[in-house]
Amino acid sequence: MVHSQYWTKTREFDGKPKLNDFEIIEEEIDETLNDGEIIGEAICISVDPFIRVYPIPPGVPVLGFQILRVTKSANSKYPVGCKVLANCGWRTTCKVTGDNVWYKLEGDISETVWLGALGMPGMTAHYGLLDICSPKPGETVIVNSCAGAVGNLVGQIAKIKGCRVIGCCGSDEKIEFSKSIGFDEVFNYKTCGSYTDILKKIAPNGIDCFFDNVGGQLSSDIISCMNVGGRIAVCGAITSYNSTEPVMASMVQMNMIAKQLSMKGFSIASYAHKFPDALKDMIQKKIKVREALTTGFENTPSSFINMLDGGIIGKAVVVV
Ligand SMILES: NC(=O)c1ccc[n+]([C@@H]2O[C@H](COP(=O)([O-])OP(=O)(O)OC[C@H]3O[C@@H](n4cnc5c(N)ncnc54)[C@H](OP(=O)(O)O)[C@@H]3O)[C@@H](O)[C@H]2O)c1
Repeated sequence: MVHSQYWTKTREFDGKPKLNDFEIIEEEIDETLNDGEIIGEAICISVDPFIRVYPIPPGVPVLGFQILRVTKSANSKYPVGCKVLANCGWRTTCKVTGDNVWYKLEGDISETVWLGALGMPGMTAHYGLLDICSPKPGETVIVNSCAGAVGNLVGQIAKIKGCRVIGCCGSDEKIEFSKSIGFDEVFNYKTCGSYTDILKKIAPNGIDCFFDNVGGQLSSDIISCMNVGGRIAVCGAITSYNSTEPVMASMVQMNMIAKQLSMKGFSIASYAHKFPDALKDMIQKKIKVREALTTGFENTPSSFINMLDGGIIGKAVVVV
């Protein structure tokens, strides 16, 4: 047997997650392996917004990606000593089949980057923007939560595509960061006043592509400023995640009809078969990386809560 710990929920979340919504469970893992299985120790763990809304019942391990160092293997693709990106939750040690492994880490790239730009957020930014929004050089692209794990990558990819890139986020420090990685215009949605007024000022020629991480009135107002034929990738709706009341926003249908907009929601899991292509592309693009690292497995819930609260810039990662 090998000893492990995992984080679970003590109860369903009610509003903003709190530290006492989580507890650590000790467990012993049987070291006997079936064909294809591996055991690994967590090097670093990702904390992501989907955990707030994904139905994870109390008692079971909280979901999440992590980088594992393989310590025992019955899978020739993942021998002992290699590092893999796997979906095994907030655990210190886990046993998984090869099916739960996204990929083996290659090259001289920090493990934490494989949870961000080269992990789930990177794949999300890449396919959500390029596949759904199909930005063309010279077009105007906007992304909200623009200093976050996905948003900052969307902005960088759009700039590389030759677009004019606008972001919005919740602090002046985030504005400064976003501009430092190439955003042309960034506004603080908490302090800017009327969204449509600021959008008309900074996007006088209208918006062609909208990568939506947030939802709510901000998104409805962005949609009202889009050009004919605009494309919207619906990635997230974080404005609703902690809300105990339905989030109210102006209807978007009239703008969608009048401007013949296309809006598509997506789940990055459905692009899994294409990840190797995106990975090569993201490595070649030499994306700038910003991470908010928290040390200690015991601090995983506080890192998660801080990320949801807007307290970090870039990708939130817990280094075990
Ligand atoms: N569809 C998919 O397959 C997929 C995959 C990955 C992620 N996502 C979604 O993509 C979005 C971004 O994920 P991420 O990992 O990059 O998270 P993130 O942007 O790094 O972190 C969350 C950020 O959301 C912002 N936020 C929180 N509450 C908000 C509110 N009420 N209104 C506006 N902004 C708010 C905060 O930044 P501010 O300081 O700017 O407010 C916070 O830092 C999330 O909605 C997530 O669920 C979807």
